[in-house]
Amino acid sequence: MRVVYLNSTGAIGGAERALLDILAALRAAEPDWELHLLSGTGGALLDEAGKLGVEVRVLPLPRVVATAGDAAVERSSAGRVIALAGTLLAAPDSIAYALRLRRVLRDLDPAIIHSNGQKMHLLGAWAKPARAILIWHLHDFIGTRALMSRLLRAHVGRCRLAIANSNAVADDARVVLGSRCAVRTMYNAVDLDRNSPKGPLADLDTLARMPRVAEGTIRVGLVATFARWKGHETFLKAISCMSDRVPIRGYIVGGAVYERASSQYSLTELHEIAADCGVSRSVGFTGFVPDSATAMRALDIVVHASTRPEPFGLVIIESMACGRATIVSGAGGALELIRDEEDAMTHPPGDWRELASRIEELAMDPVKRQEMGRAARAAVERRFHPSRLAGELSSLYRTALRT
Ligand code: GLC
Repeated sequence: MRVVYLNSTGAIGGAERALLDILAALRAAEPDWELHLLSGTGGALLDEAGKLGVEVRVLPLPRVVATAGDAAVERSSAGRVIALAGTLLAAPDSIAYALRLRRVLRDLDPAIIHSNGQKMHLLGAWAKPARAILIWHLHDFIGTRALMSRLLRAHVGRCRLAIANSNAVADDARVVLGSRCAVRTMYNAVDLDRNSPKGPLADLDTLARMPRVAEGTIRVGLVATFARWKGHETFLKAISCMSDRVPIRGYIVGGAVYERASSQYSLTELHEIAADCGVSRSVGFTGFVPDSATAMRALDIVVHASTRPEPFGLVIIESMACGRATIVSGAGGALELIRDEEDAMTHPPGDWRELASRIEELAMDPVKRQEMGRAARAAVERRFHPSRLAGELSSLYRTALRT
């Protein structure tokens, strides 16, 4: 069995972390399979996949494709959608790229092409050799993306199976794609060794260039990329309205990973928002922490604050695996991962007052934090164990190959 994975970026975000987990699981369970990864840019993803024994190769995406995103489309008029579709579809660079990809795929002659991200779903559909089957791995809601949903619907005939990372994403995909392609849910897993309650701790204060906190201060952190919908503003506002009943320091852990400046905050912008909220001295910015578990373990409370429904929310299960008390933005696939008040808490997306009161409740109750952390670890061991991945995926592959 030869499988080619297509990913548009070599930087590691959630979808890439999920892909690495899949590659590691398959490598261990199916040592005879030949796994290839083609990526649109270089980066840590390729290094890590290479270490797993996957054949990696960069096929540099032309700039017009690499920087085209959907964030602009969502806010734009129909005219803009068509214009952008035109740029994407008709740009000579994209066509040349699809042809190049087709040549590479023809040479590799895979049984399965597994695309991991929307641009690659389309490029995969254009470039797929007739014998290979194409599987789209959906990590995001497509229904809210005007252009992408139209394009994917137009190409669904070339896709054999769509794998969704949650039931919420699967339901949305069924509406967009109709009945022409099977849609199945496969939850992501979490590396339970790397994300464990015990292990090295990041020195968050040093990373954030702040003086060490006083003994007894509760550390609360938002761990996320700088994508605009990850709720940095909600978090900063929540910290700004905490009462002084318990000393708290907030941390923003993460950095900018996208090609498009408009889809994400810059650090300067976040500093300005923090200043406007009056929390410059009570919130630190650590930057990207390569081993996020070291940062989570150093936190008492981990906050997930996405302002839109989260398709899945890897950070949630990573935090739970680290035995942290976790507060989740309660919408989308994120709600499928937790049991409210038992192994995590929720707040309505964007509601910083409610978020502040959840933080305060947990900050004042060490026993509750501990019990919740313990229940969280047990829940992810049961539900998101990586040993599940290889079996589920190989059975999805085999069914797709048969149909
Ligand atoms: C995307 C989704 C995120 C999910 C990740 C892995 O980044 O936005 O919710 O956790 O993919 O599936």
